[in-house]
Amino acid sequence: MRIADFALERYFAQWEFTAEHLLCASDVEGYSMSKLLTLADTETRKLWKGLKLGYTESAGHPLLRAEIAATYDTVEPDEVLTFAGAEEAIFCLMNVLVGPGDHVIATWPGYQSLYEVARATGAEITLHGLHESDGWAVDIERLRSEVRPATRVIVVNTPHNPTGMMLDRTTYDGLMEIAEDGGIRLFMDEVYRGLEFDETDRLAAGADALPTAISLGVMSKAYALAGLRIGWIATHDRDLLARLAAFKDYTTICSSGPSEILAIIALRARDRVLERSRAIIAANLEHVDGFFDDYLDRFTWIRPSGGSVGFPRLTVPGVSIDDWAADLAKAEGVLLLPGSVFGYAGNHFRLGFGRTDLPKGLARLEAYAAKTLR
Ligand SMILES: Cc1ncc(COP(=O)(O)O)c(C=O)c1O
Repeated sequence: MRIADFALERYFAQWEFTAEHLLCASDVEGYSMSKLLTLADTETRKLWKGLKLGYTESAGHPLLRAEIAATYDTVEPDEVLTFAGAEEAIFCLMNVLVGPGDHVIATWPGYQSLYEVARATGAEITLHGLHESDGWAVDIERLRSEVRPATRVIVVNTPHNPTGMMLDRTTYDGLMEIAEDGGIRLFMDEVYRGLEFDETDRLAAGADALPTAISLGVMSKAYALAGLRIGWIATHDRDLLARLAAFKDYTTICSSGPSEILAIIALRARDRVLERSRAIIAANLEHVDGFFDDYLDRFTWIRPSGGSVGFPRLTVPGVSIDDWAADLAKAEGVLLLPGSVFGYAGNHFRLGFGRTDLPKGLARLEAYAAKTLR
């Protein structure tokens, strides 16, 4: 397989572990191991202490699959397959579902692998552009017009990275209708599910909505445990799950045993875990809102509806975000992610507000902006 570089990962490879403040991270501040273990119940404490480091069940630890299934309304444990992060799930899914002659539609800007892996299989891709002027909303009529007879998959990420957009009820219903009418699979990237700022905005998970739809989840974002590398696919389509399991035999075969137990611990305590993530985000958003209120004449800010990232734009004439972000990183150790990393023109950048050092990083950014953006 020939596949284009994952621009975001190459950018992070350069900066992630050298910049002092990652003001563009897409995850929530990770748990410490010791803190996470305090959430264990009697059964999981025993599992942790007695864990033998052999191969694990390829489909995922049965208790893990049960806990994941319980986060959906209609999904059974054997309708869940675990992977090494959401990333491996995307890789396996696209390889199983599409190839030359097939067509895939994906929201964009977006997490590159959601369309790049499909492209590398030989499928044709239509990027459904989201625009700041529409509040980053999916344009359902335009999406309908993008469907072709060869369209096999529509990929939608909600809450969305990098804009923080969430599908509203009408758009969601429209999407379901397009998928059903065309016999097209919906691949819903729901890695930020649980981080809706208003819980009443949360719509049914893809896997609960349609028998052929696919939900993608992970421990990395809402559950603040990116280091576990535990992700999953949930769907009622058991034939697809069998094909995915067979493909996974050529990637990781099975998950890391310690990670599985730690994920079970976190999922059993999910109310507390999600509450912690939401509290970090809510506190950070107050600082972020304050900053953009003061800098309205230099940045645009479509306030996200969920997740831990947003996509503001630097509007100072003659100042390119690529240059400004590079200078900011060198001068202040604060990292932003320019929109060019998503291939998206227009001076936007991703701002992440899931990390607890945000107030410090934002204060440095503000001081630098006061000096350099007039
Ligand atoms: C929208 C989206 N999907 C999938 C992933 C992949 O998640 P992971 O890195 O945990 O595999 C990410 C990670 O940033 C993401 O933002």
